[in-house]
Amino acid sequence: MSPFQLTRTLPEDATEADLRADVQGGLTRVPKELPPKWFYDARGSELFEEITRLPEYYPTRAEREILVDRASDIAAATGARTLVELGSGSSEKTRFLIDALLPDLASYVPVDVSRSALTGAAEALLAERPGLDIHALVADFTRGLELPDTPGPRLVAFLGGTIGNLLPDERAVFLRSVRTMLSPGDALLLGTDLVKDEATLVAAYDDAAGVTAAFNKNVLAVIARELDADVRPEDFDHVALWDRDREWIEMRLRARHALTVKIPELDLIVPFEKGEEVRTEVSAKFRQAGVRRELSDAGLELARWWTDRKERFALSLAIAR
Ligand code: SAH
Ligand code: AVI
Repeated sequence: MSPFQLTRTLPEDATEADLRADVQGGLTRVPKELPPKWFYDARGSELFEEITRLPEYYPTRAEREILVDRASDIAAATGARTLVELGSGSSEKTRFLIDALLPDLASYVPVDVSRSALTGAAEALLAERPGLDIHALVADFTRGLELPDTPGPRLVAFLGGTIGNLLPDERAVFLRSVRTMLSPGDALLLGTDLVKDEATLVAAYDDAAGVTAAFNKNVLAVIARELDADVRPEDFDHVALWDRDREWIEMRLRARHALTVKIPELDLIVPFEKGEEVRTEVSAKFRQAGVRRELSDAGLELARWWTDRKERFALSLAIAR
């Protein structure tokens, strides 16, 4: 049997139904809002990879530095035989973890809404590790996941700071659902971007080359294509701002002039005033005490906390109680 299996756990029509519900609900709400998971079609996944290579976007480099330094500690502490990765994307940094867990690693289970990211990642991993067992899941990690029956101990990795793209109440629900994937003694490896000065943060989400702006506007291209919506990305400006009270970056799309977005499939006409915004993403930044508390509230005990040398980003290893 091929060491690569790809399973879609979302029903074929679920993605479209979800998108319709999110667009209908999000664009008729005040203020307008769209969930960030819709950035990641094949183009959006490519744009995200481009973001990770930008000089301003430090999180990927910082997290890679920690993984390079700590992968063998993580392998020794967990003894994991199954590595599940939520929102795995290109799995580019995960290879350090996989290599540290081999040869005992029985299965790698990357989970992502982006099929193209999963197939690209598997191809790249298998080119160098032909024996690696990969069971990829096209699935939404905010919905209950059915994981394959692979050997324990299990390590769930959630890297990149993607947890920050969930709102606080969504994070609590999500972390409790992660806890149900684990047996006592199993582990979660969690990447979190850290609170820092505003200029560094804003630059990471508003780069000079305009790649993040293109990524942000890609959600409009997804809506135009999937819902046949009459919406033009060039009618909107990319906005990234730091909310110092809630300690998160917000990305928004701001209408350059008064306009209407027509979505006949939803029987919807959405008016925008000049300057009106849609929130497309929050990216929360963390402190150690908050991470410890959120993990503990979900039945997970913070065991190790590592940062990169400049203390921009943290990796937490938490053990299921
Ligand atoms: N972990 C990688 C990629 C981060 S980008 C890294 O650290 O570089 C965020 C990834 O999460 C994307 O690949 C996106 O497709 C995926 N994603 C976003 N929302 C998701 C959801 N609700 N369910 C599953 N995957 C999701
Ligand atoms: C995937 N996630 C952690 C990224 C972030 O930094 O919040 C998504 C992103 N948005 C803009 N740039 C990158």
